[in-house]
Amino acid sequence: PTVVYQLPDGSTSSVDVPAGQSVMDGSVRNNLPGIVAECGGSCSCATCHVYLDEESTPAFEEPTLEEQDLLEFLDGVQPCSRLACQLVLTPDVDTVTVTVPSSDA
Ligand code: FES
Repeated sequence: PTVVYQLPDGSTSSVDVPAGQSVMDGSVRNNLPGIVAECGGSCSCATCHVYLDEESTPAFEEPTLEEQDLLEFLDGVQPCSRLACQLVLTPDVDTVTVTVPSSDA
């Protein structure tokens, strides 16, 4: 699958992310700005906050309670807010789009 990252500086980066990896993995492996991922993907740091494009929502599972709890305490949280490490790509996904908030940079 392809993940399109809309970056805080207004640019866009398209990355091929293998199924089984997360939107966070794709960002970190390509050194994209904005996703810090301090905890390395164990859903405990919330530094991988992104806004998931509405059209991309069906590509992923609903957020777990654990994820929802973390999201609640973030600045700039929106209904489409997600933790990128919990957005794991599956083989039948073609392209998804996320917006990386600048406050996390
Ligand atoms: Fe820490 Fe996602 S990388 S919660």
